[in-house]
Amino acid sequence: MTYQGPRPDIGIIGGSGFYEFLDDPERVAVETPFGPPSADLAIGDVDGRTVAFLPRHGERHQFPPHLVNYRANLWALRSVGVRQVLAPCAVGSLKPELGPGTFVVPDQVVDRTWGRGQTVYDLEGDVVHVAFADPYCPRGRQVVLNDAGAAAGEVVDGGTLVVIQGPRFSTRAESQWHSAAGWSVVGMTGMPEASIARELAMCFTTVAMVTDHDAGVAEGEHVTHAEVLKIFAGNIDRLKALLRQVIGNLPGPESDADATCSCRRVLDGMKLPIE
Ligand code: ADE
Repeated sequence: MTYQGPRPDIGIIGGSGFYEFLDDPERVAVETPFGPPSADLAIGDVDGRTVAFLPRHGERHQFPPHLVNYRANLWALRSVGVRQVLAPCAVGSLKPELGPGTFVVPDQVVDRTWGRGQTVYDLEGDVVHVAFADPYCPRGRQVVLNDAGAAAGEVVDGGTLVVIQGPRFSTRAESQWHSAAGWSVVGMTGMPEASIARELAMCFTTVAMVTDHDAGVAEGEHVTHAEVLKIFAGNIDRLKALLRQVIGNLPGPESDADATCSCRRVLDGMKLPIE
């Protein structure tokens, strides 16, 4: 890494159909102990804040959800200075009232993924069992919720995101099971992204965009990838507007010492896996 510019405190991880965000960014190749991230980091300015953008699936969408190198992605962002991550993703709805185009800011997650490289603590050294009872940053969530109205219309506060392994969508029985459990939305990328961010003491906030009703939740057709992409593309400008608004209102790096959220403080007194 040869990047010498201002350190980005904020990272944006773009999902399906979201491959660019910044005007005229500097591109920075970063190596990590877990290999390369999904793409070079794009680092640039948004309203005076330095931001790093990373397309989760690669610039050509070459990494499906189960093959994304989540550890390398979070490590790369952390290594250039990122401490707050906003991670939009496309999700299916598990509740009839959450229609396509709705933004949900979940407060809980259920992890049904496997074999993805789930932790950064399999490098040599002491393991740390991080607290993850509240997986999302309360400060980040609040800023998104406060800013939503002006930028993106109504945003749903809270709900449980269940993350399936994919790349296939759920069966109707799986979908009905997830829905009966009371969970709100289903996606394929939210984990282990959120827990790895926590392992690196980064604040992490998911903004889930509903693109479909998952199979079995409403009468009718099954989900298609084409439908997911179409709805995402139709709402990407709202999402970008929301993110721009949020970036301007996230606490600055100077407030790091005062941050009381468990995300930021989770490794206090312990040895960080990364400096
Ligand atoms: N991403 C978008 N829609 C989805 C669905 N129905 N299931 C899993 N991931 C999704």
